[in-house]
Amino acid sequence: MKLRNLFKRSKKGQSDNTEIPIRHVQFNFDEATMSKYCWDDNAFSSAFLLSFSAFIPHGEHFVIDTIRACREDIKDPALKARVAGLIGQEAMHSKAHEEFNAVYQEKGIDLRRIDQLGEWFFKRHLPTILPRSGQLAVACAIEHFTALMAQRSFSELALMDKLDVGAKEFLTWHLVEEMEHKSVAFDVYQELVGSYWIRAVAMQLIPIYTSSIFAYSVQSILRTPGYRQSLPKMVGGFRFWFGLKGYFSKMQPGILRYFHVDYHPSQLETDAALHEWQHRLFSPGGMLEGIVIKTLVSKENQQEAPKGNLQEVSQPKCRSQI
Ligand SMILES: [Fe+2]
Ligand SMILES: [Fe+2]
Repeated sequence: MKLRNLFKRSKKGQSDNTEIPIRHVQFNFDEATMSKYCWDDNAFSSAFLLSFSAFIPHGEHFVIDTIRACREDIKDPALKARVAGLIGQEAMHSKAHEEFNAVYQEKGIDLRRIDQLGEWFFKRHLPTILPRSGQLAVACAIEHFTALMAQRSFSELALMDKLDVGAKEFLTWHLVEEMEHKSVAFDVYQELVGSYWIRAVAMQLIPIYTSSIFAYSVQSILRTPGYRQSLPKMVGGFRFWFGLKGYFSKMQPGILRYFHVDYHPSQLETDAALHEWQHRLFSPGGMLEGIVIKTLVSKENQQEAPKGNLQEVSQPKCRSQI
């Protein structure tokens, strides 16, 4: 890549106008049926996933607050509608994660310290050190990373089957919605900021910060009495995520694509997985029947509707929807 490209304003006009529904869900997490190991009966993998779950609600609030703060500056009405969808989806995600985390807290796995760390990082640290453009760039990086995780998780059917029953529906739903709104923060960034180098630097900041936070979080969970397993088993969990052919290694090409000057999240191939898992989750008799209580879509996509309003979807996509 030529050096001058680092300072180039990335292209606009590639936005994706997919409608983003806000699904109100009620998972009714049941402590009795949820294993203390939520991933593949492995202590390391489960500690990593629980760390992620304890940390991510603050990241989602950060995305919501960042996007909401600049909503008035967005001129494109279709993008405003998708912003409403993104905010609604992320709000539901963080609520569900908090409920999920509370079950593990009840089980004696202390996630409060990780929760506090997430709150400090996203609520106090990042807004203090970054201008609005930098915060938007971090929001884009988070959204790219979660969309990549969705793409990776659905790339092999066996991966989702490693989840404990109590976590599977909930995390599948979260990942599907990450694919649905994967372009929104990026399109807001392109409309309001557009600088290539700010988003490129932000993407590099994420692993630098989060690797140390996650290292601390995982070891704090593994210190829970009765949680550790044999060393070879836990090393197996570590290699699953971080090994040369592990979960994150296979995400590297997708991470590197973000550094292309003309990158747009619509270039991330998620359509096939999205349609398949939307069907599995939300069709009548699907995995989330009885869990999705209602679905709202922004009326801004419809020409007769006043801006910013939401309306309930009249045609149910699953029997449980109103
Ligand atoms: Fe989310
Ligand atoms: Fe997201």
